[in-house]
Amino acid sequence: MRVAILSSSKEIANIAADMYTDLLAKKPDAVLGLATGSSPLQVYQELVRRFEAGQVSFAKARAFLLDEYVGLPSDHPEGYRNFIEQKIAGLVDFASGAVVGPEGQAEDAQEAADRYQKAIEDEGWVDLQILGIGTDGHIAFNEPGGSLFSTAHTQVLTKQTRQDNARFFDDDISQVPTMAITQGLGTISKAKKLVLVAEGKQKAQAVAQMVEGAVSAMWPATVLQFHNDVTILLDEDAASELVLKDHYRAVWDAQ
Ligand code: F6R
Repeated sequence: MRVAILSSSKEIANIAADMYTDLLAKKPDAVLGLATGSSPLQVYQELVRRFEAGQVSFAKARAFLLDEYVGLPSDHPEGYRNFIEQKIAGLVDFASGAVVGPEGQAEDAQEAADRYQKAIEDEGWVDLQILGIGTDGHIAFNEPGGSLFSTAHTQVLTKQTRQDNARFFDDDISQVPTMAITQGLGTISKAKKLVLVAEGKQKAQAVAQMVEGAVSAMWPATVLQFHNDVTILLDEDAASELVLKDHYRAVWDAQ
């Protein structure tokens, strides 16, 4: 893992956006992985800015979302496909149909998850995946207690995750869906490159477990310790519980 402890959201967004821009310059038809939630928003803003400045094109790329709520109406603004459309997909030049997510309205959610896994596999897996991390250590919607090798699956959300996400649903937890379809930890592990963004004190414990804790289903993000190309971009608050902070700074500065 490469761990960068950075002084501003802007710096975090620039580094992550550089990774997408560099990949698309080398491989215009790359398969991109997109996350929702607050963490990647500034990265998407920076990518949109670069697109508008003619510095990057997504015209030949394809993209897979990490996850989708089950049961929200297809036009719900907090549906992840709609969120991604508003924040990046609809603002750059992706070809029509190039950005896909799990079918949260499918009659059989597990069958939809299996189809989603196959679609990612058929594309030869994701080239570059951006991730956020939940306060309970989830990545995508892989909640504690699941398999570290899971394929795409349906997932019951923890109360903690629903509480955290209530801010997107008028602060009303009863409006937050109880279930999602998510890429599995095994699916995410197949991505060739991963970049995880975390900011704020509320992420510090999960970040410390992910980077320095024992690999365990209790902290799903610890599976990233097995991946050989992961970049973790943190602000000071998110990094505050890391023991080896000085070492990570020295390694990052040496690169
Ligand atoms: C979103 C996702 C989640 C979020 C995580 C952090 O597609 O898969 O794992 O990345 O819940 O959410 P934020 O960024 O809103 O703190």
